[in-house]
Parts: sequence; structure tokens; C-alpha cells
Amino acid sequence: MKTLRNILIFDNSEQLADAAAERFVSDAQDAITRHGRFSVALAGGNTPKRVYELLASEPYVSRIEWSSVHLFFGDERCVPPDHADSNYRMVNESLISRVSIPPENVHRIAVEGDPAISAHKYEEELRGFFAGSSWPRFDLVLLGMGEDGHTASLFPGTSALNETKAWVVANWVEKFGAFRITLTAPAINHAAHIVFLITGEAKARRLAEILNGPAEPERLPVQLIDPVDGTLEWLVDKAAASLLEPSTK
Ligand code: 6PG
Repeated sequence: MKTLRNILIFDNSEQLADAAAERFVSDAQDAITRHGRFSVALAGGNTPKRVYELLASEPYVSRIEWSSVHLFFGDERCVPPDHADSNYRMVNESLISRVSIPPENVHRIAVEGDPAISAHKYEEELRGFFAGSSWPRFDLVLLGMGEDGHTASLFPGTSALNETKAWVVANWVEKFGAFRITLTAPAINHAAHIVFLITGEAKARRLAEILNGPAEPERLPVQLIDPVDGTLEWLVDKAAASLLEPSTK
């Protein structure tokens, strides 16, 4: 991994969530000043939920020009938007429904129907938003990490790991017996700022493998994340960082 790894270790997940919210605010202000809009790809799962809740409250909510914020999703489960497993539902309940963001600025991954068509439609939407670009240039991408070393819906041993052209794919995940719609690694890696949010002891062993071990992206897809021309940060709590080699900290 050639990128200088900014690993920040926090005493607890609340401090980590505050630091992530601060980064969202500063990236949003920078991007809106520089190019009039802020594009962010949100992470699903449980870890980022507290960040979204914080963004919808002070001292963060009033520092964000929500009318210039565009929310995208890094991945989605193929369930209805009101389903308990829906990333959209989680983000809607913790953030979207609590801030004054224009509905047209919320770019949900519509997963109703054929997964391949859903992926294609989302890629079309991204290509429209980032018109003229060979890859999307998100101002910020938030990512989590699963205990198996996956990120977004880039799971170990799945076909999406080898994608080099598509921005979005429908990825079959055998262990779920289901497709997931996900940004591809190249689409993520062209972002200006990528931030991992990783908490909990259950992830310590895998994180140590990823940061201290050899490159095995097929087994540890998080290792595919390496920005082409941007910054990569790891926001990690003490429990998840507990097995990292001292030199990494
Ligand atoms: C998803 C996510 C996924 C998530 C990890 C970690 O849709 O599940 O995008 O990549 O970030 O599974 O999930 P937790 O934060 O719940 O541990």
C-alpha cells in the first residue's frame, strides 16, 4: 500500500464519530466553496449511524449548506427501502429525515427489480452527475469494514473485486445467497478523501492482518482501497486497534 496511512486511534466510538462528523463538515465546506457542491458516498452497516445522527444535530447541522450536499450510497442490500436491512432506511432515519436536504440531492440506490439493471441505472446516475469524468470524483467516501475484511459490498472472493471498468456492479455474495449493489474499488479510489470507520474488538484481528500483513486483496478486499489522487484515513477505536503493531500506530 503506497499511500501514507493516516491511522487515528480514538478512546471510544463516540469520539470517533465526532471526528468523522467534523471531517464531513470541513470537506463539505471546502467542496462547496471550491466547486459549488459536495458529493459524499455514505457507508452502510451500523458503525456510521452515530456519525449521521451527529450530523443532523448541533454543533454540526447548521455548519452544512444542505442544499449543496449530494448524498450517494457506497452499497446497498437488495431489500425494499423500508426494510430493516436497508442502508437507505438507516440513513433516512438517522440523517435525511432530520435535515433540510432537497429530495433530489439524495441519490438512493434503487434496488427494486433486476440487480444488474439496478447497478447499471445507478452508474448512469453517477455518470450524469460526474459528467465528462472517466471515474467519479467523490469529495468524500465513508467506508466501514466487516469482520471478514470486506468493505462496501466488496466481499472476499467475489467477482466485483476484479472489476476495472464499471463504476457500480451487482455483486453475488454466496454467504448471503443474494446480490449486493456496490461501488467498485476503482470508483472509490478516485475519490478526493476516503475515510474508514472501524470500531470494536471483533475487528481487531482482521484489521491487523490488513494493515500489518501481506497484500491479499482477494481475501482482504479492504486492501483494494488505495486512492489514486486523494487522502486515505483510518478512524479506529482503541478496541479495533488493539492488535496493531506499534509501528502502525
Ligand atoms: C453494508 C456496508 C458494509 C459495512 C460493514 C461493516 O452495507 O453492510 O456498507 O460494508 O460497512 O459490513 O458493518 P458494521 O458497521 O455494521 O460493522
